Amino acid sequence: MRIDVVTIFPEFFSVLDVSLVGKARAAGLIDIRVHDLRDFTHVRHRTVDDTPTGGGAGMVMKPEPWGEALDAVLEGTADAVVVFPSPAGELFRQPIARELAETPHLVFCCGRYEGIDQRVVEHTATRPEVAAVRELSLGDYVLNGGEVAVMAMIEAAGRLVPGMVGNPDSLVEESHEDGLLEYPSYTKPAVWRGLETPPVLLSGNHAAIAAWRREQQLERTRRIRPELLEG
Ligand code: ADE
Repeated sequence: MRIDVVTIFPEFFSVLDVSLVGKARAAGLIDIRVHDLRDFTHVRHRTVDDTPTGGGAGMVMKPEPWGEALDAVLEGTADAVVVFPSPAGELFRQPIARELAETPHLVFCCGRYEGIDQRVVEHTATRPEVAAVRELSLGDYVLNGGEVAVMAMIEAAGRLVPGMVGNPDSLVEESHEDGLLEYPSYTKPAVWRGLETPPVLLSGNHAAIAAWRREQQLERTRRIRPELLEG
């Protein structure tokens, strides 16, 4: 899988060298290339933003450097997905992480300030033979820019790439994989600070354990995220 990230803060992504993503990168499973948007400017001070047309607070990212950056990273590609993280986007959830994990070429465009001139999204969408476009939100809150959201998306999708996670079984029994929250987990010792492990887990009865875990999933989901059961 190839991942291109365009940002005005390339150094932000140095954390991609650590942990599982770092290992996958070193092993050649994921090819991550981080680009500085300012390298695609041709103006003094490498300016990438301007005032919002129509007025209003803040600054908007200019389309020209984005157009050049996308032309460069999409050159020669035919099956990319270009992601624009935005609090106004579709909610990023586990099924979308799975879709991204199956995409051979992902491009993440990190907006800052009040966002990127919308024509960049529109123009990219006029090239379906090259790339599909997705505007994705990490959640109903506002971050200072797309970088943190992109980091989360790379980790969520990256760990689903075959070969990334040590034990693939651990992927199927997690929160959201089956639309429910995960059951609680315990390890040894059986009693810790006076708190007991649920006895069924020590019973050796695999059917009873599976039934208990399912009930825990349903109870947790009903209590904490009831809307997940409505769909
Ligand atoms: N940029 C700023 N806030 C964001 C959010 N909630 N999700 C994705 N990108 C963002």
